[in-house]
Amino acid sequence: MIGNIVNPKKDKPIFASRRNLLFGGGVLAALAAFAGWRIATTGDAPVIGGPFNLVDGKGKRWTDSDFLGKYLLVYFGYTFCPDVCPTALGELSAALDRLTAEQTAQVQVVFISVDPKRDFGERLDEYGKAFHDKIMGLSGTREEIDAVAAAYGAKYRFAGDTSTEDYAIDHTSIIYVMGKDGRFLTQFTHNATPEQMLAKLESVIK
Ligand code: NI
Repeated sequence: MIGNIVNPKKDKPIFASRRNLLFGGGVLAALAAFAGWRIATTGDAPVIGGPFNLVDGKGKRWTDSDFLGKYLLVYFGYTFCPDVCPTALGELSAALDRLTAEQTAQVQVVFISVDPKRDFGERLDEYGKAFHDKIMGLSGTREEIDAVAAAYGAKYRFAGDTSTEDYAIDHTSIIYVMGKDGRFLTQFTHNATPEQMLAKLESVIK
């Protein structure tokens, strides 16, 4: 079953997964924390997150281990996204701006592009930073992207002719908040207000 994919032209979920219907973020977070890192599933609640190996616009490789010790916020999208990604990153940036300097220093955001054909080099490096200097762009091969997407339960699908430069990508729009030890803590969507995002961030950042 494909879960909670957002059509960027309509900016609303066009599918609701069984998981999302059954579990609110808080319950899911509690179950994930209880189940523990590395355990595949507890009932219907999958553990969110896992190892990744991706590349930035300068060709530097980054793995999940590089971010241990930070609260890592993970979001999947693409820079040509007409609506959903700009909304998510814009609202998130407004929330980040309201953290204290001490909190902000502990946070890093990775924008994982599922569109490496168009998102690479300077474009990949600059897109996230245009919203907030804490947002860095990463991407990779299709296999690397699919591996990290699967680990997070993120979904995407191409819409239009991908042999051209003019196509869209429908994608899930969830900002995953991972702890300093790499464990999933909480999540929110682009529909959350900056106030709601801030409240969730403040609830987990120690
Ligand atoms: Ni998008």
